Amino acid sequence: MTTPHASPLTPREGGPKVAVIGGTGMNDWPGLEISASTVVDTPYGAPSAPLVRGQVAGIEAIFLARHGQGHKIPPHAINYRANMWALKNAGVEQVIAIGAVGAIAGWFAPGALAVPNDLIDYSWGREHTLFDGRPGSGLKHIEFNQPYAPSVRKALLDAAKAAGVDVRDGGVMAVTQGPRLESPGEIRRLKQDGCDMVGMTSMPEAGLATELALPYACLAVSVNWAPGIGSGDIHGQIEHWLALSMAKVRAILEKALPELGS
Ligand code: HPA
Repeated sequence: MTTPHASPLTPREGGPKVAVIGGTGMNDWPGLEISASTVVDTPYGAPSAPLVRGQVAGIEAIFLARHGQGHKIPPHAINYRANMWALKNAGVEQVIAIGAVGAIAGWFAPGALAVPNDLIDYSWGREHTLFDGRPGSGLKHIEFNQPYAPSVRKALLDAAKAAGVDVRDGGVMAVTQGPRLESPGEIRRLKQDGCDMVGMTSMPEAGLATELALPYACLAVSVNWAPGIGSGDIHGQIEHWLALSMAKVRAILEKALPELGS
């Protein structure tokens, strides 16, 4: 057996094909014409929030608030397994994750956007796999050569072009444990490791998506210089750039949905 809990994961006919996981700064999706909000349960417990179904640009989509309604769940406490399993079980075929991140690379100044193509996982102690040894879970050592799915990455990059928003193609995401930000020494180490940006949620999200054969990519929004890279008030930067960047994110999603969801 290679697919964990294969039987409940039968795709639903006619449902939304695309899901968007909103992170910090995107606890809801203004512009989504909501038709239903469903509280679901999974073999792993409850997802972060109800699955919100609606339409954007005439295309059906599902929205999930990663940090829960009201942004209360810290990155290390998110039930990533329940979130990803619930999306797969809803019949979703592609997932776009929105992630606010700190910038390590000089090219990724706050306010810039990128679609990363690789990651390094520095998080720990999270429930990170569906192959957890419980009866029926099976075991597969999934390949992780492409942590972010090329098909969804391409759709995001094409959509950005169509929306007239500058988005960098590629970059290495460092995934830290949080909820605290990093020390300057930790950021120096991430930079030496080749990381371009740092966030707290791409893992285990991307790994679970791969286990579920659920194409997944991240639209990363630079909201601050990582500690020790720039100077100044980090929380001030985060607030400022989150407020300015979400309109760009929504514009990209509006163009991406018709490509992925129809
Ligand atoms: N570090 C980790 N995660 C983040 C940051 C950061 O500087 N900014 C936004 N998310």
